[in-house]
Amino acid sequence: MVRIGLIGCGYWGPNLVRNLTELDEADLAVVADLDPSKTRKLARRYPTIRGTESADEILNDSKIEAVVIVTPAETHFDLARRALEAGKHVLVEKPLTLDPDESRRLAELADRTGLTLMVGHTFEFNPAVRRLKALASEEAFGKVRYVYSTRVNLGIFRPGINAMWNLAPHDLSILFYLLDEEPASVIALGKAFLKPGVEDVVFLFLEFESGVIAHVNVSWLDPSKVRRTTVVGEKRMAVYDDLDSEQKLKLYDRGFESTLFEEGGMRDYQVRLRAGDILAPKIETTEPLRLECAHFLECIQGKKRPLTDAWNGHRVVAALAAAGESLRSGGKKVAVARGPRPAPQGSS
Ligand SMILES: NC(=O)c1ccc[n+]([C@@H]2O[C@H](COP(=O)([O-])OP(=O)(O)OC[C@H]3O[C@@H](n4cnc5c(N)ncnc54)[C@H](O)[C@@H]3O)[C@@H](O)[C@H]2O)c1
Repeated sequence: MVRIGLIGCGYWGPNLVRNLTELDEADLAVVADLDPSKTRKLARRYPTIRGTESADEILNDSKIEAVVIVTPAETHFDLARRALEAGKHVLVEKPLTLDPDESRRLAELADRTGLTLMVGHTFEFNPAVRRLKALASEEAFGKVRYVYSTRVNLGIFRPGINAMWNLAPHDLSILFYLLDEEPASVIALGKAFLKPGVEDVVFLFLEFESGVIAHVNVSWLDPSKVRRTTVVGEKRMAVYDDLDSEQKLKLYDRGFESTLFEEGGMRDYQVRLRAGDILAPKIETTEPLRLECAHFLECIQGKKRPLTDAWNGHRVVAALAAAGESLRSGGKKVAVARGPRPAPQGSS
């Protein structure tokens, strides 16, 4: 069993607490939150877990082997760095940090120490996203041409970071996982309506060296909740709708066939619509967060590099930082700094 301390018991923390307490490999011993009412509430449901107001109590406890950080993004770098320096494995919520220099430093620190540093890109553990990647990688799907995704709803407004830093880490991690590629450039346009300087709606346009283009729309100022990603390939197309409990994933055997023809010295394209079946594959129903927590423990115990390791977190932070620069310039195209390739981890 891995002895764990969790920091941050606000909106999302209790979901990690629930999942960790359900896993045989985890011994969640202590939870910390600056607000004691949050830990008191958890203690009523989980009497064996100790509550504290001080994250330091977890970081200084030599019996704690792993720390789960579920605090606001602004605090991730400092808490993750201190946990690694204290010799603890770390699972930190997304985004890994708000600065690519900081995310790179954390990744290097994890590589140097051989400790597991994993970022909570939950959707990479989502069975529907995994199936989508498998389907989009098949020859029958053809090369991916473009992807677009929408993650909008009304709330939660977070005064500390804009809607892009809060919501788009999910879309970008899905996108980079699906394509196995980082973007070459990004354009971002957005507006702050509720609090100056904190954009409530952002539209991102991304270009990849492979020729794929992508669009991501995030907002916490929208009447409807939408969580949808569409992937258009040369031969097939797919839609992943996280809110559709029956048919999360739909595969469309549809598209256009375009052939070049020459006649009487004229060259043109004949474009023919092909409308085949629509399939809704059966998707495993295990909660993605449970799979994520289990993977974290498996990586610690097996000394394996996590699927969503710190370099994976860094590439999302680097793309968001470039998008932030574009946003501030009113939509200038900004090159995305390529993340260094991970060095072999000390322990793997
Ligand atoms: N993976 C997902 O789907 C998902 C969903 C929601 C939130 N998140 C992420 O989870 C993290 C937390 O989000 P949230 O919505 O729960 O925020 P929140 O503001 O509701 O909760 C954060 C909690 O952390 C506590 N806290 C802050 N600094 C602390 C410190 N130094 N020591 C101890 N406690 C401290 C606060 O008191 C608060 O209770 C964010 O990084 C967010 O992006 C992920």
